[in-house]
Amino acid sequence: MHIAVVGLSHKTASVEVREKLSIPEPQLENAIAELTSYPHIQEAAILSTCNRLEIYIVTESTEQGIWEVIQFLAEHSQLGSPILRPHLFILLHHDAVMHLMRVAAGLDSLVLGEGQILAQVKTSHKLGQQYKGIKTILNRLFKQAITAGKRVRTETSIGTGAVSISSAAVELAYMKMENISTCKITILGAGKMSRLLVQHLVSKGAGRICILNRSLRRAEDLAKLFSEHPIQVRPLAEMLPVITESDIVFTSTSATEPILERGNLEPIVCSNRGLMLFDISVPRNVHSNVNELEHIKAFNVDDLKAVVAQNHESRRKMAQEAEGLLEEEVDAFDMWWRALETVSTISCLRHKIETIREQELEKALSRLGSEFGDKQQEVIEALTKGIVNKILHDPMVQLRGQQDVDARRSCMQALQMLFNLDVETV
Ligand SMILES: NC(=O)c1ccc[n+]([C@@H]2O[C@H](COP(=O)([O-])OP(=O)(O)OC[C@H]3O[C@@H](n4cnc5c(N)ncnc54)[C@H](OP(=O)(O)O)[C@@H]3O)[C@@H](O)[C@H]2O)c1
Repeated sequence: MHIAVVGLSHKTASVEVREKLSIPEPQLENAIAELTSYPHIQEAAILSTCNRLEIYIVTESTEQGIWEVIQFLAEHSQLGSPILRPHLFILLHHDAVMHLMRVAAGLDSLVLGEGQILAQVKTSHKLGQQYKGIKTILNRLFKQAITAGKRVRTETSIGTGAVSISSAAVELAYMKMENISTCKITILGAGKMSRLLVQHLVSKGAGRICILNRSLRRAEDLAKLFSEHPIQVRPLAEMLPVITESDIVFTSTSATEPILERGNLEPIVCSNRGLMLFDISVPRNVHSNVNELEHIKAFNVDDLKAVVAQNHESRRKMAQEAEGLLEEEVDAFDMWWRALETVSTISCLRHKIETIREQELEKALSRLGSEFGDKQQEVIEALTKGIVNKILHDPMVQLRGQQDVDARRSCMQALQMLFNLDVETV
């Protein structure tokens, strides 16, 4: 079995491409079922965020497994593999393992060290198990990566400063419009990213915020978290009249189609006011055709790169500290992986010896007849089990602990030959 990851991220593809590949949560079950129905994909997990789409697989044949993932991506995005391929990265075994650890730790994020990615890796692990894409190997890999992500955040200072895509978007807005405290600011969406938007906006002194959401209740709950600030709430249906009065609009909903576009903004944008749009959603909530409007300036997640460059510089040292820690987690996974290879030989050996023990015990007890009561029989049974366990203990420990791949494989072959083990049938 081999582990591989095929994917694309903010480093390899623009938001225009990423949004076509994004797999929203409601589509995950079907996507996992489709992936695992390919003949060479034994396990599959999907990590779909605003910055990346990554598919982790366990496959008997790396070449075939990867080809099947690319087929799946081409069909899903309808981009066709020649267009898709230049944006894809492919990593195998050790590199794939290290990559997931780095992703979980926030070291591969657009905003270095951001905390949201760890929760997204956890969700991907949970849903992958629920939809039966994640089995033994990816389960262990994701668990190890989550441990790595937690350790990096608790044992290094990379997570300090509460950085996120939302904080970068607020920073960009602040750079573009210094008088943010007097601006009328509208936020579309009331989820996790909107909460962070509000948090950073109020810390920058923004005083005129209105949250609009499909469910008004959720917008009200969000406003209550900042009850010392006069935050207004409105249903999303009222967005156009509210935007008419706004200077800045942030969009952060999980809508899969644009909410704002030239058609609905053109009639409401006032020439002497102007409007800035900051869209942190992927797929985007703001259509690129709004840039055709003279009085609108629209920014999306890819435009945050300029802001985060500064953040990267100051966090590079902390990231180096974290990389060392990740090596330890990769080693722990590798050790488990190596031990896994020995499982079938060990179970086969145990099964054979256990069968001999049971047969010989039965013969002996039947020869002894009724002379031995239950108590004596139990003692003899415990004695045989004890002898078997003690004999098997050392070879098993030696085999599992053998670090050298070739030496370990020779030991397994020797055991299989000497004990005449049929590993395939157990
Ligand atoms: N989570 C992250 O770390 C992260 C980072 C960067 C960017 N983003 C992007 O930011 C966006 C929001 O992410 P999130 O984590 O904040 O999501 P979330 O917590 O799940 O919240 C989703 C929000 O989107 C609204 N929504 C969902 N479908 C909608 C539709 N069809 N029309 C209008 N509103 C809709 C929901 O409204 P209801 O309350 O009415 O359901 C809710 O306000 C996504 O595009 C995501 O890719 C997320």
